[in-house]
Amino acid sequence: MLFQTLCYVLVWSSLVSTIVVSTSPSTSEVKIQSYEYVAGKSFTGKIYVKNIDLTKVVSVIYSDTTGNWNNNANLVKAAFSESISDTNYEFLTFSSTAISSIKEFYIKYDVSGKTYYDNGSANYVVTTPPPTTTTSSSPTSTATETPPTSTSTAFPSGNFTISTWIKTQEGISRSAMICNINPSEAAKGFIAASLSTSGPEYYHSWTRGLALVSYVMANDYNTTLKGDATTVDLLKDYATYSINSQSTSTACNCLGKPKFNADGSSFTGSWGSILKQSGDDTYVTGTLKPGKSYLDYVVSTWSDGCFDVWEEANGVHFYTLMVMRKGLIQGANFATRNGDTTRASTYTNTANTLKTKIDTFWSGTYGVFKKPVMMSADNSGSLADGFYTPRSDKILATAVVVETIGRYPEDTYNGNRNGQGNPWYLATNAYAELYYRAIKEWTLAGQVTVSSISLPFFKKFDMAAAEGTVYKVGTAAFNTMTQNVALGADKFLSTVKNYALTNGSMSEQYERGSGKSTRARDLTWSHAALISAARAKAGAPFT
Ligand SMILES: *[C@@H]1O[C@H](CO)[C@@H](O)[C@H](O)[C@H]1NC(C)=O
Ligand SMILES: *[C@@H]1O[C@H](CO)[C@@H](O)[C@H](O)[C@H]1NC(C)=O
Ligand SMILES: *[C@@H]1O[C@H](CO)[C@@H](O)[C@H](O)[C@H]1NC(C)=O
Ligand SMILES: *[C@@H]1O[C@H](CO)[C@@H](O)[C@H](O)[C@H]1NC(C)=O
Repeated sequence: MLFQTLCYVLVWSSLVSTIVVSTSPSTSEVKIQSYEYVAGKSFTGKIYVKNIDLTKVVSVIYSDTTGNWNNNANLVKAAFSESISDTNYEFLTFSSTAISSIKEFYIKYDVSGKTYYDNGSANYVVTTPPPTTTTSSSPTSTATETPPTSTSTAFPSGNFTISTWIKTQEGISRSAMICNINPSEAAKGFIAASLSTSGPEYYHSWTRGLALVSYVMANDYNTTLKGDATTVDLLKDYATYSINSQSTSTACNCLGKPKFNADGSSFTGSWGSILKQSGDDTYVTGTLKPGKSYLDYVVSTWSDGCFDVWEEANGVHFYTLMVMRKGLIQGANFATRNGDTTRASTYTNTANTLKTKIDTFWSGTYGVFKKPVMMSADNSGSLADGFYTPRSDKILATAVVVETIGRYPEDTYNGNRNGQGNPWYLATNAYAELYYRAIKEWTLAGQVTVSSISLPFFKKFDMAAAEGTVYKVGTAAFNTMTQNVALGADKFLSTVKNYALTNGSMSEQYERGSGKSTRARDLTWSHAALISAARAKAGAPFT
């Protein structure tokens, strides 16, 4: 059979929760935001650092369980990760090789001839096995002042049946997703939307699907499959395919073509980044270094409008602008690290322009964003900077109004031709993910306050909610409300569970009447969306 592939089952360990959290930078020069320690496996974390000078050295220094600091030579260096918009702070992250035991640690920041510390009050104490999320106060004026106040909060467990089911389904989905990557006889890095070659013919790579799937893999590489050689190879194949498609001739002679063939050539019918942690610096500065790229193309063409994510409506779209903004901000960080300050500032400026434009999509009259498709935009297009992230009042208000699990209300595409639109697995999964991500954000922030905009959302999960109600982490009210939201999220996942085939296969859609799984078989994106939902349900951090 032409498209037969060797599929391998990946084994992964259970997710670990992040331990310490400061919600925002304030005035101290250095402050831990979060960390995770898995005994004998990994020690990773994220640090707020005031940008005093470009040249800086930030180290995490630790002792083993016997209290031995090895003369402070037990250290992990942190590296630039991203700047934090509208502040003079940036995030640095660290990731160690396996460390058999850690008792305590503190952070040392050397810059411009001075040294700053963050040691809580008397060093951070690592507890093993890790408890669930703990929150701490924001950094204060001197790093050695005010220890983080700790309150333990469990991430809501949701529906037990679904929690059990999703563990198995996540593994099935990961295998199904991998099956659709690099089928034999295709160009390296080709990710088929589905292996279905007729009724419908989906044996193509759509740039958006390719990007979303690779994003899920990149997250896997960062978390559940840390350091996995197969995953990093697949990501490199994806980069190869994308770089080649940028120079492939297309009908529009532009970078805006959304669909490519298995051999890497451009589809001519009608219509319409990550590897640094592998330690392969030459690859990053050589192959990936931004040259003529999609981002340059975005800078010059974003306002021209284009087709929406489903290639149906032409215009300027919320979803597209959100992902463009994210790409530009991440691209600016990447350019900075590669010494390309011109591109870094061009990308940053365009991102700021987009931010203003995106705000105009809110419709005061309806109190919602105009297109529900923004749900998946929000999962994939938001950064950890609070700009229309899942906890945003306006996003929540839209979620509660348009709780559709199809693509959008006017949809008439039945997966092969026009007829009647059906619910989609990926949209249903995206709703669950959105709810869980909102819970994660409230937890990290320490609290959530109900506003007039978000009230209809909260009312759905807590009848007593009123404008001004504050749910504080660690209180019974917070736990009850978040558990109800988690159960709501799991209702979406129940739908997926009910309509997936018994062996876990998910096609593109399920029939609106019978719930029968229909059209393109094992849609790569359906499975990728399930994996991200499972990760969000486990309370994993996201980027
Ligand atoms: C940690 O903080 C305490 C209290 O301010 C201070 O006395 C101590 O020197 C700090 N330790 C390090 C390694 O900076
Ligand atoms: C992976 O981890 C790095 C370092 O923490 C972070 O900068 C990056 O955004 C993460 N990428 C994804 C896709 O999760
Ligand atoms: C939990 O999920 C199962 C399976 O979908 C469902 O039958 C059950 O009603 C759900 N329970 C709650 C409390 O939502
Ligand atoms: C699941 O079952 C369907 C229908 O029988 C089949 O077409 C598909 O190949 C199966 N998937 C796997 C991964 O075995």
